[in-house]
Amino acid sequence: MLTTFTALFYVIFMVNGFSKLNKDKKIAWLSGFFKDPEAAVRDYTSFHHPVPEMQRIIDGFTENAISNYVLPYSIAPNFLINSREYAVPMVIEESSVVAAASSAAKFWAERGGFHAEVTGVVKLGQVHFRWPGTPDRLQSLFPLIKACMIQASAHLTANMEKRGGGILDVELLDFTALEPHYYQICASFNTCDSMGANFVNSVLECFADALEQWMTDYEGLSDTERDVEVIMSILSNYTPDCAVHVWCECSISSFEQVALQLGMDARTLADRFALAVRIAQIDPYRATTHNKGIFNGIDAVVMATGNDFRAVEACGHTHASRSGQYRSLSTCTISGNQFRFEMHMPLALGSVGGLTALHPLAKHSLELLGNPSASELMCIAAAVGLAQNFAAVRSLVTTGIQKGHMKMHLTNILNHLGASEEEAAAAQYHFARQTVSFSGVRAFLEKERKA
Ligand code: MEV
Repeated sequence: MLTTFTALFYVIFMVNGFSKLNKDKKIAWLSGFFKDPEAAVRDYTSFHHPVPEMQRIIDGFTENAISNYVLPYSIAPNFLINSREYAVPMVIEESSVVAAASSAAKFWAERGGFHAEVTGVVKLGQVHFRWPGTPDRLQSLFPLIKACMIQASAHLTANMEKRGGGILDVELLDFTALEPHYYQICASFNTCDSMGANFVNSVLECFADALEQWMTDYEGLSDTERDVEVIMSILSNYTPDCAVHVWCECSISSFEQVALQLGMDARTLADRFALAVRIAQIDPYRATTHNKGIFNGIDAVVMATGNDFRAVEACGHTHASRSGQYRSLSTCTISGNQFRFEMHMPLALGSVGGLTALHPLAKHSLELLGNPSASELMCIAAAVGLAQNFAAVRSLVTTGIQKGHMKMHLTNILNHLGASEEEAAAAQYHFARQTVSFSGVRAFLEKERKA
């Protein structure tokens, strides 16, 4: 039963036809939620794009957009990947991620750079359905059903086939031992340079319709056998066969200079680094944070290029759990004087279609990267992920991350505390030699202001 409070809440805050209101009316309605409605309206409005055509494009991405949520668009230069130089665009809010990626990029560029190869480009999708007959009976009918589904979807696949892609295979999988009457049609696809979500989902829905129609029309079925029930048709974001292998390697002695700056010898640095990566293989708590560092890099490139970071993350985390325990995505091996750091992970990206073609900055990101194929973009994103992981673990096993992180965060704290340009400059100077903390910066500013 509703309490008086919840009932009141619904009376005040439930709205009909919100999506039909224009943007100003939506914002006006929302203003009732704020302590300072004028400031809220001003802030929402101030982030509208000054060019109406641009704003129209952005509004088209989702329903009910009232403003734009701004994140920094940064560049990590000096990435050498497969002997090619890249200035990589990264969209991320976390201070120190871009600095860390840039530093690791430079470090590895001086040691041959990153090497990457795509080990597969196969995307997957499934039609989940129930059917009352036996697995053997369905298997015997499946060649006919498969031919019917492929024929029914020919109008959808024709263009993709012209580009060299299309349906690769369609299989029937039997899950009746786990769930009564549950079968799956599992289809694999090559979607060329597009991420291909819309293509795959359209073909799957077409398969589902064709399956139902075939069951209705085929004369050799009993009445019970016609009773197919499609539950859902959707791509799988787990793409173990759309994957990239990325690595970097060098002699341990080439760590000498950097190691000394960080207060240890090269062998100790390499050993501590490799141990930290092994710990992330052993312990899921550490693995989660370790992999988060990898996705700091990958997601930032995925966002900058208009790809779907939720799909990429979901896939990566499933892969990290493939042994039955969540583990590090990267591995490190030391053999003699040789240090090798690598990662083999599924990563489904597109460099054409979807937001890549619509978002003005995604288009520039791709141009900046030399308009890469989807495979080349997979190599770039994976290399940035590995670079980010390298930088994070190197800091963790030497100075710790807070020193660098809080230095970058100092600007945020100063902005938050309303520091003037002079105060900020004085604080930057002071905290170059001091530990940065929120209370430390506040105390410093108070002292400056009194002085
Ligand atoms: C912070 O965003 C990422 C790290 O925690 C990653 C790691 O611990 O390896 C620094």
